[in-house]
Amino acid sequence: MKEPKPTSWIRKIPPYVPGMSKDSITERYGIADPIKLASNENALGPSPKAVEAMEDVGLRMHLYPDPEAVGLRTSAAAFFRCRPEQIIAGNGSDEIIDLLCRAYLEPGDEVMIPNCTFSYYRIASLVCGADVLSTSMRDNAIWIDDILGKVSAKTKIIFIANPNNPTGTCLNRDDIMKLVSGIPAETLLVIDEAYAAFVRRKDFIRATDLISEHGNVAAAYTLSKSHGLAGVRIGFCIAAESIIRTLNRIKPPFNMNILALKAGEAALKDEEFLARTLEITWQGLDYLYEQIERLGLSYIPSQTNFVLIKIGGRCREVFEGLLKRGIITRSMTSFGLDEYLRVTVGLPWENEAFIEALSGLL
Ligand SMILES: Cc1ncc(COP(=O)(O)O)c(C=O)c1O
Repeated sequence: MKEPKPTSWIRKIPPYVPGMSKDSITERYGIADPIKLASNENALGPSPKAVEAMEDVGLRMHLYPDPEAVGLRTSAAAFFRCRPEQIIAGNGSDEIIDLLCRAYLEPGDEVMIPNCTFSYYRIASLVCGADVLSTSMRDNAIWIDDILGKVSAKTKIIFIANPNNPTGTCLNRDDIMKLVSGIPAETLLVIDEAYAAFVRRKDFIRATDLISEHGNVAAAYTLSKSHGLAGVRIGFCIAAESIIRTLNRIKPPFNMNILALKAGEAALKDEEFLARTLEITWQGLDYLYEQIERLGLSYIPSQTNFVLIKIGGRCREVFEGLLKRGIITRSMTSFGLDEYLRVTVGLPWENEAFIEALSGLL
């Protein structure tokens, strides 16, 4: 049959594999309210200040939102300790990743991506016709020396998730400084800090602290995790003004809807919510570590709000067994980690329900 054909490079793109939704499990197993520990969402729900701000929008929904997102960017500048001119807001950090690729990649350009990381970097790069070069992991972490060994003048963008999804590991200050100083000044280093708020390691460095001295570093951040706003879609790029000006030239004029603008502005000021989020996440992680060890399993210590648990050869069966008991975790098959499950930290009762179900399946 004759039909319109997408470009040859678009046809090569593998589809994004999302976590399973609560509704799909309700439909499949008739479980009224499954526990979702699959997509690294915030266990507490949304920031209450954000909810209040969205309710206030009320009857103003017929008006176009502010295309420059001034209120949101001002709030973000205080949060990231930079100037509003160094920030652009996006419809989730997914849109930020897209904008960076569209602005800096031409067909045939090279992009370097660690081979076990957030899959959207690859998709967004392939959309632009770029060639993706995978770099190896070492001890489940991003391996700086492999990136430095492969980088060349041809490398247009390097993507790093710090901390990394799905391994939960993070690079420290020395690693990041070694990377920044070892790459060409024309190579854009995107450091995605979706989970940076959760890091407990003291030797961690925020990419936002590097942007004034390094014009080729772009930090990405999202309010989906730390601020509980995954469904509202709010992300940021924090970088040198010249990069932000470039992204502003190509962003859709009204990329941030009015609810996202107001929710994000309020959430960033909600220090109490962030503090409670960190407390419940860290307590939950410690509980999970203790219980995983008690069950004789191992895990990769995490600097995020999720943990990779090594289940072993029966992993698929355990994953399905958990689904039948109404607990959604994330299968790691699409990442090539067949023996692992990724589990987001939930509320204490959700973590306990997960452990109970898991121990019944081992
Ligand atoms: C490392 C990383 N970056 C970006 C995102 C996307 O975030 P957003 O919801 O802001 O698009 C995710 C989502 O899981 C992620 O894990």
